Amino acid sequence: MKSINIHSMYEQVKDWILEVGKEIRESVHKPHTINLKKDYKDLVTEVDEETEKYFIQKIKSAYPDHKVLGEEGFGDTLTSLDGWVWIIDPIDGTMNFVHQKRNFAISIGIYKDGVGMIGFIYNVMEDVLYYAIKGEGAFKNDEKLPMHTETTLEDSILGINSFWGIPNRRVEEEGIQNLIRRVRGTRSYGSAALEFAFVAEGIIDGYFTMRLSPWDIAAGVIIVNEVGGVTTNVEGGPLNMLETNTILTCNRSIHNEIITKYVQVK
Ligand code: IPD
Ligand code: CA
Ligand code: CA
Repeated sequence: MKSINIHSMYEQVKDWILEVGKEIRESVHKPHTINLKKDYKDLVTEVDEETEKYFIQKIKSAYPDHKVLGEEGFGDTLTSLDGWVWIIDPIDGTMNFVHQKRNFAISIGIYKDGVGMIGFIYNVMEDVLYYAIKGEGAFKNDEKLPMHTETTLEDSILGINSFWGIPNRRVEEEGIQNLIRRVRGTRSYGSAALEFAFVAEGIIDGYFTMRLSPWDIAAGVIIVNEVGGVTTNVEGGPLNMLETNTILTCNRSIHNEIITKYVQVK
């Protein structure tokens, strides 16, 4: 395995993201081929697929021995996180891409032996790139993001989909209703990657959800970690980057209280 210069890797991937991001931005209002995956709530377009293929082609030619886990399935089938693994969501927030033409992101997490090394979340329409390199802090368009400072639930805005506050099969809705009552306010952006980026930026203080795939979170976990935030499953346990997880990513000072007082998994 040839040795990797993490900073050149970052520069190279940033260029790839900005190049394809510009194309997506410029073609966002053109007609797209929209297909359903599992059901009518689960959309995919040719842009999701072409963007994933674009990254896989770039990665495989620059780093032939690296593995890629991509949402649309054009990458590798992974059974472990050994070696270098790129975890890619070509468009996170496809429903927003289709309906709103904004609030969607490209998300790329680069892992080495299971450890997050570089995370990128690119808000395509805003042309804003959030990124972090392990141990070097998190950035928004090259401006270093400040470390989180202590907060309370009363002072917090929580990213949460209203779905978790109505009867559902994954979490007791009453606890979630009490949590919604307790915090200052709630927001739902429709892109898990952007919600992670906003937690890192400190414009929301936490993001809670009951089911996400590795590509929704791979970059976000790295970026939130670099500002002193914490990401676990909703029972406080570690995440498994090869499976779906429940997710609480937040300012460290509200993490324990949310889990112990408000979350009861069904
Ligand atoms: C979805 C978005 C959404 C989250 C869903 C994800 P996609 O990703 O992140 O906010 O609630 O669970 O599947 O399908 O647009 O890549
Ligand atoms: Ca996604
Ligand atoms: Ca996606």
